Amino acid sequence: MNAKVHELLNQQINKELYSAYLYLDFSNYFKARGLDGFANWYMIQAQEERDHAMLFYTYLQNENMPVTLESIDKPDKLLDSDMNVLRHGLEHEKLVTSLINDIYEAAYSARDFRTMQFLDWFVKEQGEEETKANDLISKMELFGSDPKGLYMLNQELAARVYSAPSLVL
Ligand code: FEO
Repeated sequence: MNAKVHELLNQQINKELYSAYLYLDFSNYFKARGLDGFANWYMIQAQEERDHAMLFYTYLQNENMPVTLESIDKPDKLLDSDMNVLRHGLEHEKLVTSLINDIYEAAYSARDFRTMQFLDWFVKEQGEEETKANDLISKMELFGSDPKGLYMLNQELAARVYSAPSLVL
């Protein structure tokens, strides 16, 4: 495997684990606010991020490439309002999309078609992640300022259940 592609894939394990850590922080924020539905939504988001990390980890192992685990940064977003938490979520997903694109670009330059095929799932997933984060902001804008609306939205988010990723390695 090309050295740059390897480095970026290995780095992505860390980025996805950081994402899990960040969403765990979001979940903790909403739990403390008494909004259990929002807390549930971000807890499941954190689980999905851990799954993403494991996909990169397993892919490198399957390719007989070394995996190096680095320290995970502390969640660094200022969680000072419900809406800001949601906005940080969207901003973070956009960053992850750009990281996936960078790996794709490196794989493309190296003619690493297997890695490109592996990354296809993540390209699609990132589209969905951004849509989900955007939808949540829209709903919050529409209903969040009304206590009854916030209550209903919290109920809706409480119903989110975890499902394992559709990509199996
Ligand atoms: Fe693993 Fe939310 O991107």
